[in-house]
Amino acid sequence: MSLLPLLLVRRLTFLLRPLRALVAHAWLREAEVDAVLAWLHPAWRLNRVFARVEGREWVSDDLLALRLRCNGNARGWRAGQHVQLYLEIDGVRHGRSYSLTRVGAGGRVELGGRRQPGGRLSNRILDHLPVGALVELGQAQGELHWPQGSAGVGLLAAGSGITALLGLLREALARGYAAPIRLLHCVRRAGQRAYVEELQQLMRRHPNLDVRWLLSGQDGRLQPQHLADMHGLALLACGPAGFVADLRGCYGEALQAEAFSAPVRDAAPGRAVRLDFVRSRVEAVGDSNRSLLELAEAAGLRPAHGCRQGICASCTCTLLAGAVRDLRSGTPFAEPGQAIRLCVSVPLGDVQIDL
Ligand code: FES
Repeated sequence: MSLLPLLLVRRLTFLLRPLRALVAHAWLREAEVDAVLAWLHPAWRLNRVFARVEGREWVSDDLLALRLRCNGNARGWRAGQHVQLYLEIDGVRHGRSYSLTRVGAGGRVELGGRRQPGGRLSNRILDHLPVGALVELGQAQGELHWPQGSAGVGLLAAGSGITALLGLLREALARGYAAPIRLLHCVRRAGQRAYVEELQQLMRRHPNLDVRWLLSGQDGRLQPQHLADMHGLALLACGPAGFVADLRGCYGEALQAEAFSAPVRDAAPGRAVRLDFVRSRVEAVGDSNRSLLELAEAAGLRPAHGCRQGICASCTCTLLAGAVRDLRSGTPFAEPGQAIRLCVSVPLGDVQIDL
């Protein structure tokens, strides 16, 4: 039950500017302002993004397109970025990262979410989040972008990696991009090919677009010959860490890529390292094969986090001393003041973290 319709809430967003200034000067508290706004409409907040579910559509056997209408706080979002969707299960708040497949006018966005075997949160969202429900979203993150001035673009997606690339593709075609585009979507079986009808329609309308599917359960894994027609194109890839790592091996830094599953790491215990979480005044001994997020949690801390896959940036902290390795790229960082993502950083020795 709300006192104002969501449309009016969006139109009244300009009223929040002076309130934000008062909060910034500590003359008002954001939580108190939010409580009043939420009383007027459950999706109204000073800065946080709340959205109403307006539509659900299965676009493959295991991938759901969710259409949402946001309050006025989703500013500067772009298709191809990703947002956290938060849901409370048994009183505990959980977050899951989904790509923005469309960012439209009036706060309308579309997300693509794939079923994860045994994934409690994703299955709750996919099976039980009804049209009309209100959810909280994090701010959009992500750097994937359509290459400007390229002679053509190759899009390489595996699994739900199609969602980020579809967002970019839809926008590029709507803007009139006319150079060749080749999209290869790798999935295990035919039922996992997503947005097939829409992609086939786009191919009919845009002769410069060619879409192919690789069924790994039938045709085997991605091989160099599958990429022969991508030669000379600017390449974008999105998929699990292993898929992106294989492509990086072929194309190096020429590839613009985003990986969305946790990087693989050594299961064997590493060596003991000393951890100093400076702001919390907590010191602990940890294992050099575990992420700093796991180590901080094992030490009793509750760092902010979302995806636990190095995507959403919610767990970013500052390295004060020592060295860490980024599990996604293998890059070591030892510069004091360096921003690191706790969930994908392992300590290379004793470290001090601003947490
Ligand atoms: S929790 Fe999302 S980047 Fe670390």
